[in-house]
Amino acid sequence: MGGSKLSGEWTVREVLNWTRGYFEEAGIIQPRLEAEILLAHALEVERLQLYLSPDKPLTVDERTKFRTFIQKRRAGTPLQHLIGEVSFFGLRFKVRRDALIPRGETEELLDRTLRLVPRDQDVRCLDLGTGSGVLAVSIARYLPRAAVVAVDISPEALELARENATLNGVADRVTLVESDWFAGVDGAFDLIVSNPPYVESGAIAGLAAEVRDHEPHVALDGGPDGIDQIRNVIAGAVAHLAPGGRLLLEIGHGQGERVRALLVAAGLDGAAIESDIAGLERFALARRPS
Ligand SMILES: C[S@@+](CC[C@H](N)C(=O)[O-])C[C@H]1O[C@@H](n2cnc3c(N)ncnc32)[C@H](O)[C@@H]1O
Repeated sequence: MGGSKLSGEWTVREVLNWTRGYFEEAGIIQPRLEAEILLAHALEVERLQLYLSPDKPLTVDERTKFRTFIQKRRAGTPLQHLIGEVSFFGLRFKVRRDALIPRGETEELLDRTLRLVPRDQDVRCLDLGTGSGVLAVSIARYLPRAAVVAVDISPEALELARENATLNGVADRVTLVESDWFAGVDGAFDLIVSNPPYVESGAIAGLAAEVRDHEPHVALDGGPDGIDQIRNVIAGAVAHLAPGGRLLLEIGHGQGERVRALLVAAGLDGAAIESDIAGLERFALARRPS
């Protein structure tokens, strides 16, 4: 906090008002909300507490800690990396630079997956490109009889996924495998889910700096046409789906027709492209014939 009150006393309300302006100038889209989230994090309280004690002055240490957060945020560090965790489908997950920050669309992919399987059914699941482990861990958590294999090519991502499986109490049902897609995977699965990298290589330089400079490119880069990795996943899925097994993919907007053609060419049934709540083509679904 710079401005005219460098050394005086700052209350919660004053700090929030000041930070809102500081973030607004930087083009941060939800400046007040982010200010509140970061202040609550710095003070180690729930956000509600800020409303209950707006006149509470910050100590010097609290101000110093908060100042560091907001400077990093203004310089482009994602909010989630500063907080160190996200909520995903009602569960807590650690996040850091080692893996993609989970997105809301992927919660929709999980929702579609969970609706396919009764809770009390034994089910073998494979999550390809698990990253922070959000899909694998959530499936294990919400389907208590699921056995999940979670694959990633990145050992750093797998370490984070391991921590998240432990955090959510499902480490005994999530097997982590370092592999280039199916190369290290054995067996057949009732469900294969994947949110593979699907950004065209040429579009990465034009992504928001917050994504381009802070998230792993191996999690984003889908090759020249964006669907190289989707192609690899679909090509390998057929041999690893049990009869009647389902494949669910997250894809990029504008990739639907091409992905549907790949699913059909691979001999899968019921190939369908579905949209997310924003109305954008986002999910590809198919089934191995029984
Ligand atoms: C878009 S991120 C998805 C992460 C996580 N599943 C999620 O939805 O938030 C794609 C993931 O695929 C992994 N990946 C990229 N290429 C891979 C490959 N050849 N084999 C296995 N995983 C790969 C990346 O490391 C990254 O974690």
